[in-house]
Amino acid sequence: MERKKVIVSERIADEGIELLKTELEVDYRDGISREELLEIIDQYDALIVRSVTQVDEELIRRAKRLKIVGRAGNGIDNIDVDVCTRYGVIVANTPDSNTISAAEQTISLLLSSIRNTAWASEYLKGGTWDRKPFRGVELYGKTVGIVGLGRIGSMVATRLKAFNMRVIAYDPYISDERFTRFGAEKMESLEELVKEADFITVHTPRNEETMHMIDERILGLAKEGVRVVNCARGGIIKEEALLKGLESKKVLSAGLDVFEKEPAIDNPLFQFKSVVVTPHLGADTFEAQKRVGENIAEQVIKALKGEIVPNL
Ligand code: NAD
Ligand code: MLT
Repeated sequence: MERKKVIVSERIADEGIELLKTELEVDYRDGISREELLEIIDQYDALIVRSVTQVDEELIRRAKRLKIVGRAGNGIDNIDVDVCTRYGVIVANTPDSNTISAAEQTISLLLSSIRNTAWASEYLKGGTWDRKPFRGVELYGKTVGIVGLGRIGSMVATRLKAFNMRVIAYDPYISDERFTRFGAEKMESLEELVKEADFITVHTPRNEETMHMIDERILGLAKEGVRVVNCARGGIIKEEALLKGLESKKVLSAGLDVFEKEPAIDNPLFQFKSVVVTPHLGADTFEAQKRVGENIAEQVIKALKGEIVPNL
């Protein structure tokens, strides 16, 4: 019997590819152009993507055989789930597979930005031994404001408690019990949170409500010298507002894994020594990618066998 066909349009772990190959014909086309994908998508029963491939109506309309879009990762802001549902295409993701890595990357960005680690490393490798420009601050005894106390935000909370920080959080969609469970003081509004926080880290999905939620007005309410981290999605902290904040020194440092436009090459935020940046590496650990790859492969295989998958 002819095997069903899956196209994988971005890099996933070898373990996932191997698992897919046990049951399906696999076309592994990491980095395929949009034009080519549009051209050939009608040949496939399943599509696996990460965050770059835009799964929109133009693509889904052409995907005559498609049964499932597998998002190898968490965020689904690059997938039009309503359109998929309308065309009878299942959307599945792996939300729990990379949360630890994303939480750890958040802590890494926070620490390296407040201690000038990346800048000092660059300086020393360039041949200069100097300590003066790099004096940082401690986390100990300070207040961190977490926006979004979901899977990743809550892991960040428990990890930062270990640094003896006061953890406050704003999340209007969860129960009071969840704040208590993760040792976070509940803030009734974003305004309240930013007024009290020495450090702000965002962990919401990106959607109409959260895009630019931290803008000029909100940063204007923050403490002088506030420091921010965004390891969730580009634009939750409005880049233009952050730029102004860094210029005026209202914001003293930032750790950024994600950007409004990705790939981010000439982003004006890159000019600041106090800004540490990584190219969307939050989920890029061997452990997370193995889990993500295997998990999405299992779901795609199940869906194509007509078994139940926990879709969105
Ligand atoms: P989640 O759904 O578990 O948690 C999100 C939380 O945000 C929820 O508790 C929700 O109630 C809250 N929220 C929603 N709207 C809000 C608002 N307007 N104000 C305050 N809180 C709000 O999501 P998660 O798994 O923790 O992921 C968080 C973010 O991290 C997502 O944007 C995801 O795409 C991103 N992510 C990034 C990487 C990376 O590589 N950098 C890796 C994994 C996930
Ligand atoms: C995710 O949402 O899972 C992350 O953005 C990680 C990724 O896709 O690489």
